[in-house]
Amino acid sequence: MSTLKNVRFGLIGAGRIGKIHGENLSTRLPGVELAAIADVNLTAARDLSHKLHVPAAYSDYQTILSDGAIDAVAVCSSTDTHAQIIIEATAQGKHIFCEKPIDHNLEKIDAALEAVEKAGVKLQIGFNRRFDPNFRKVREMVAEGKIGKPHILRITSRDPAPPPIDYIRVSGGIFLDMTIHDFDMARYLVGSEVREIYVAGGVMVDPQIGEAGDIDTAVITLQFENGAIGVIDNSRQAVYGYDQRVEVFGSDGMVTVLNNTPDTHIYSAVDGVHSSKPLYFFLERYTESFIAEMKEFVKSIRDDSTPPVTGIDGRIPVVIGMAAWKSYQERRPVLISEFTQ
Ligand SMILES: NC(=O)c1ccc[n+]([C@@H]2O[C@H](COP(=O)([O-])OP(=O)(O)OC[C@H]3O[C@@H](n4cnc5c(N)ncnc54)[C@H](O)[C@@H]3O)[C@@H](O)[C@H]2O)c1
Repeated sequence: MSTLKNVRFGLIGAGRIGKIHGENLSTRLPGVELAAIADVNLTAARDLSHKLHVPAAYSDYQTILSDGAIDAVAVCSSTDTHAQIIIEATAQGKHIFCEKPIDHNLEKIDAALEAVEKAGVKLQIGFNRRFDPNFRKVREMVAEGKIGKPHILRITSRDPAPPPIDYIRVSGGIFLDMTIHDFDMARYLVGSEVREIYVAGGVMVDPQIGEAGDIDTAVITLQFENGAIGVIDNSRQAVYGYDQRVEVFGSDGMVTVLNNTPDTHIYSAVDGVHSSKPLYFFLERYTESFIAEMKEFVKSIRDDSTPPVTGIDGRIPVVIGMAAWKSYQERRPVLISEFTQ
């Protein structure tokens, strides 16, 4: 029997993603205990704690932070709360898993990262797609030189349906809400930083998204520091389901990942050849990755090692997202260095 003490977690935010992490922390991760759940909506915290047999539910996350028996927090509340919660958690010596994005404001992100650095606690950002077995394989093959020198990256990332307009209004825009995952994947898969970005975008799915000051469709070209070029295409609505494909093409070959489907049957009949649609959305498509990212976070606490997705990894895609918005508005290529100098 293991003599290691359980890592005790508090969950902050019991919404869509909080439910996933809550369930994983309480049922799927060995050596981990989910001790408490907090949500400003106390009913949401209570409902989830009953479902997962978690002993404590609060409306104020401070109660979790001041509990000396809790080692780590999973921050799954709305984005506008993340930076403040990170700062307060560091003051109590908690390790922090924080959902993406850290914030929409670089000054707030920097204040949070400085607090983490000073406190010497672990911080991991929830860029879960890095932990998807398919995408991880692509990264490994690129890193091993299997495709030679990377020349072209292609990411297709289309949601099955847009979120509610109220969500769009506070989302920070498509680039900080949705494409931010693709920006993270781009630098992860190619193994190089983005140097320049150019965006063509528009409102093609729902005029209300345009009225809210956002766009719903984009084609983004990227120039990387290592000379590779990339293209990301986004839509808030793919009528056939969640479309998540990547390809890296290089001097010695190509590696491609297609969509995951619930089954692989192919039905052929007089009216055509049919197969299953892609898995519906992120909850279904990225199930394994949410478990794997949290396992690695716990491992970094146990081993006292650097988490696999650091605070800087959380900051860089926000900068790329800001550059993307500037490129769309000014209709010109934008250097990432315009935001870092
Ligand atoms: N990694 C991913 O794939 C992924 C997927 C979805 C959401 N997210 C991120 O997770 C975060 C939450 O998104 P969601 O879709 O779960 O939102 P949601 O609205 O479903 O849930 C957020 C919850 O946080 C609670 N909350 C708000 N302020 C709080 C506070 N001060 N203290 C405690 N609880 C508070 C709300 O009451 C709500 O229950 C966002 O930052 C989002 O970008 C990441």
